[in-house]
Amino acid sequence: MVSFVVGLRRFLGALALLLLAHGGAAAEQPTFVGRSGTKLVVNGSTFLFNGFNAYWLMNVAAQDQAKVTKTLSDAAAAGLTVCRTWAFSDGGNAALQSSPGVYNEQVFQALDFVVSEAKNHGIRLMLSLINNFKDFGGKAQYVQWARDAGESIKTEDDFYTNAKVKQYYKNHVQKVLTRVNTVTKIAYKDDPTIMAWELMNEPRCRVDTSGQTVTAWVKEMAAYTKSIDSKHLLQVGFEGFYGSTTPDKIKLYNPGGYKYGTDFITSNQVNEIDFTTIHVYQDSWLPKKSDKERQTFLQQWISLHLNDSVNVLGKPMVFTEFGKSKKTPGYSEKVRDDFLSYVYGLIYSDAKTGGGSHSGGLLWQIMGDGMESYYDGYEVVLSTDTTTTAVIKKQSEAMAALANKPAASHD
Ligand SMILES: *[C@@H]1O[C@H](CO)[C@@H](O)[C@H](O)[C@H]1NC(C)=O
Ligand SMILES: *[C@@H]1O[C@H](CO)[C@@H](O)[C@H](O)[C@H]1NC(C)=O
Repeated sequence: MVSFVVGLRRFLGALALLLLAHGGAAAEQPTFVGRSGTKLVVNGSTFLFNGFNAYWLMNVAAQDQAKVTKTLSDAAAAGLTVCRTWAFSDGGNAALQSSPGVYNEQVFQALDFVVSEAKNHGIRLMLSLINNFKDFGGKAQYVQWARDAGESIKTEDDFYTNAKVKQYYKNHVQKVLTRVNTVTKIAYKDDPTIMAWELMNEPRCRVDTSGQTVTAWVKEMAAYTKSIDSKHLLQVGFEGFYGSTTPDKIKLYNPGGYKYGTDFITSNQVNEIDFTTIHVYQDSWLPKKSDKERQTFLQQWISLHLNDSVNVLGKPMVFTEFGKSKKTPGYSEKVRDDFLSYVYGLIYSDAKTGGGSHSGGLLWQIMGDGMESYYDGYEVVLSTDTTTTAVIKKQSEAMAALANKPAASHD
């Protein structure tokens, strides 16, 4: 039995700890990024940002945590506040998911570390849940697993329709979203460091080029994702290709006039999808065109999709991938810097004149120091590519200044 005085002292002590913990959490805990109509919002203001891609963070953190910390620290110093990265790697021993439902705890802890370090550096994460392409497993690995389990699989695109494969995907979504971070002790689904989930990196579909197979999949998976986690924003992961509901736009605007099996409009109409995304690779998408024509395409791709996002879909847009490859003929650092300045200028002027419905851009891609084996031509190393880093920083400051303008923070 405890005396009254000791009991009271314990009670007051516990109360003080509780208040301290609560006060501390409220002061340092970022708030969730949300959506208000055609804008992203955070803590009552329009959310505008400059960001980057670094798909490799989990992968590298499993070997070398210091590289991840240094990169996030350099990114924060350049004012970058959003990072898009992979929350998947499927198949094989070093993978996050080595076989259906079997997870490598060491790799999961590497992802925990990435989330924790992002938080420490004031960077929010956009986490993608699977790849359309073979890198790190993807659609091909998922259908192979089903084939190995005796399913009759015709093509990779059975990914979107086969019941067993869809269940594998849902299990992965559930596993990641309900994961309790071993570093922060916060469940991913409750962590405001995560800005948004992405259903898939660059969905495409060859067996149904109308886009409606992918839209049916988006409907099912978006509803499933939100049934587990309604706090976070959700986006599809699209490059922006038009589908069968806008046939004139396929012809006029899809690169080469081709059908890629997605419908930017119908998939983004799905209620649970919070914002649209586009990617642009004008140099590789339009190999036969002149620089001038590519620039026109890029400018048009952005303005068309922003217009559709706002006026047809009523949602904000994020430009989630763009960059300049060193493999482009005529490449120089100045060419890259001019290209980035041009794109950043378009994003900034959209954000300024459109009331913040174009929320920001994510450069493809930032690499850490000593990552030469990962280079794809698009790499920017913040600590050594000083002129490019200056261009990036200037944009970060411009977007932050715009976000902090009283006019932009009124809803
Ligand atoms: C949110 O806004 C309030 C009021 O402006 C401010 O006191 C608070 O520090 C902000 N919180 C975060 C996490 O930025
Ligand atoms: C913007 O979208 C609206 C609604 O679809 C359309 O009427 C208008 O022509 C579009 N504007 C441009 C410049 O494409």
